[in-house]
Amino acid sequence: MRIFIGVAWPYANGVVHLGHMMGAYLPADIFARYQRMRGNEVVMVSGSDEHGTPITITAEKEGVSPQEIVDRYHKINAEVMEKMGISFDLYYRTSAPQHEEVVKEFFRVLWDNGYLYEDTMTLPYCPKCERYLPDRYVVGTCPHCGYENAHGDQCDNCGRTLDPKELLNPRCAICDTPTEFRESKHVFLALTKIEKPLIEWIKSKEHWRDNVKRFTENFLAQGLKDRAITRDIEWGVEVPLPGYEGKRIYVWFDAVIGYLSATKEWARRNGKRWEAFWKEEAEHYYFLGKDNIPFHTIIWPGMLMAHDGLNLPDNVVANEYLQFSGQKFSKSKRIGVWMPELLDNFDPDMIRFYGALNMPENRDFNFTWDGFINDINEMLIDKFGNFAHRALTFAYSHFGEIPPRGEVDELDREAIKRVMQTLKHMTEHLDKVELKAAFKEWLALVKFANVYFDRKAPWALCKEDKEKCATAVNISLQILQALAVLGAPFLPFTAEKIWKYLGNEDSVFEHSWYEAIKNLPVGRKMEKPQVLYKKIEREEERFEKWDLMDVRVARVERVEEHPDAEKLYIVHLDLGNEKRIVVAGLKAFYTREELEGREVLVLYNLEPAMLRGVKSQGMLLAGDDGEHVALLKPEQDVPPGTKVQANGLEPLGTKTLKFKKFRKLHLEVVDIGDGKLVGKETYVNDEIRKHWIGKQGVIFLDRKPLLLHVNDVLIVPDKRVAPGGTVR
Ligand code: MF3
Ligand code: ZN
Repeated sequence: MRIFIGVAWPYANGVVHLGHMMGAYLPADIFARYQRMRGNEVVMVSGSDEHGTPITITAEKEGVSPQEIVDRYHKINAEVMEKMGISFDLYYRTSAPQHEEVVKEFFRVLWDNGYLYEDTMTLPYCPKCERYLPDRYVVGTCPHCGYENAHGDQCDNCGRTLDPKELLNPRCAICDTPTEFRESKHVFLALTKIEKPLIEWIKSKEHWRDNVKRFTENFLAQGLKDRAITRDIEWGVEVPLPGYEGKRIYVWFDAVIGYLSATKEWARRNGKRWEAFWKEEAEHYYFLGKDNIPFHTIIWPGMLMAHDGLNLPDNVVANEYLQFSGQKFSKSKRIGVWMPELLDNFDPDMIRFYGALNMPENRDFNFTWDGFINDINEMLIDKFGNFAHRALTFAYSHFGEIPPRGEVDELDREAIKRVMQTLKHMTEHLDKVELKAAFKEWLALVKFANVYFDRKAPWALCKEDKEKCATAVNISLQILQALAVLGAPFLPFTAEKIWKYLGNEDSVFEHSWYEAIKNLPVGRKMEKPQVLYKKIEREEERFEKWDLMDVRVARVERVEEHPDAEKLYIVHLDLGNEKRIVVAGLKAFYTREELEGREVLVLYNLEPAMLRGVKSQGMLLAGDDGEHVALLKPEQDVPPGTKVQANGLEPLGTKTLKFKKFRKLHLEVVDIGDGKLVGKETYVNDEIRKHWIGKQGVIFLDRKPLLLHVNDVLIVPDKRVAPGGTVR
């Protein structure tokens, strides 16, 4: 059977994060590897989505050309895919000339088939910028959910697709001027003509995931409208019609055709026929995040129907979101975990393990570093790694080759049965793209493997009965072989290693899925096993010191003079859900009026102390260079009580912090340069980082300097302090 797998193309305006990885690329890769091992002919493609306003907006913000942006991020993201072992047959880009040709040709076919037509439309126009505003350049209030920063094409809050005209109070995203609406000529896709066949087609998709089917049916129930597929923009695929010189094809129309163009390019490079996948019998699977559902279940199938003669999607596998400590992953708000940094710190199979275990298949999943490290240490390493290592080293040192299987007992038979069942159940789940369920079966076998090994205790058996010992080792290795083969789609790098240690010379991926249960050849020499994973050391865990802290934003409600101390104020703080009193030595630097009503930072978990008879619950943080004292604050007000983050992370800080301990921690005021201090920091996204350059910020010294902020608001001293000034 032939299987086409398309994975949503990430915009080349930023680096992919763990949410993209777990929501699309990893599941697609697991499925692709599985299908190849089943002997199917698979083509899996994706690539950089390089056109449209996501790119031009980023380019404008950075003051560089769109080409520079897409070249930069294509390179980074292609490398991420490679390092993660995402086995694309081609990771292409939409700025490739061959792709643009395919798009134009597709356009012409739809035009000739009568599914495209010209019409004028009234479009948002910014009188100040003197230009038509593409959808993404218009912001306003979402008519459905009331979210105030909805874009002209989609509301990021409720996920509904929008037309700029539907926005309430539309304004220009660049200059904030209210938009006007003016007439402009455009090409439309006649979705109304395809509505009926689409509805019929969706009906047959009983096997689709609930979320996808429901979303699509709701979408269709609202009725389709014809959609403009050209835009007033200069970055994109040219419109193959006269009179459209200043316009380009809409990025989504262009991007989805990438599935076809990438297959054609793959075929050209490898001497294959693309038609075999698009015009002959082949199953088509698409993997994506839920925000991309309508484009893959309605627009793209509609385009394919209008084109005619090309295969439609058989399954559209959409995942929910990954959240980061309770918040939605967001490129622009730099909430998240980005892949390049993650790969700098962890084995790809560790990341894949965590990903496979927690894929947001049916509901959003909340990422935490604690969970990440626990899952890897306690399951991958302690359970799987441990069994593999024990079985391999014992077998290697006692036999050096696959030992023979003698008479089997109850437990041995149970083991063999388990292996068979795991194969059967995993196959059933994987065929239905239930990847997480399949992985759970694998994990259950891991658990059994440990039980088996412990109950057999071959180290003791060997002293009494060499034959029984050989049998136990043989079966342990048999289980391990099954774990390697059945685990290969999930943990490809690990599977290859084990495969080699078991004495194979080729790649596990050259073998069939069903070889999971093939009898091991007795007498085959084994290879000396190495440790599979290095445990993530708790001591080495990032932000270890930061985790001792708990810094929160507070609003000063009222300030009193301390009755018994000349230099001290008694400061009443509002922390959202609670009030606190802090005694602060600020009288020499701030008047009461200057303090009242403003925001400050309080070291929240500092051990309370009596200061001249008044109990101080925490401490206000201020930068001090010996000359100036400047209280720290969020650059813009944020809700009182909000926890301060360092490089995107809230500290765990639940324990009380002793003053002596706090004295050993180091916070300092810095000038934020363009690259040195925040340049390589993990959780600060480029876009935000740019806004912060040239300002003063505060760093916390952990294994590396961490910059303090609250989401996209920087923590600053309220007046200039010499850089290096310490915070106390
Ligand atoms: N670039 C889009 C996004 O990140 C996805 C495009 S998927 C494609 O949301 F199929 F159109 F390529
Ligand atoms: Zn404007």
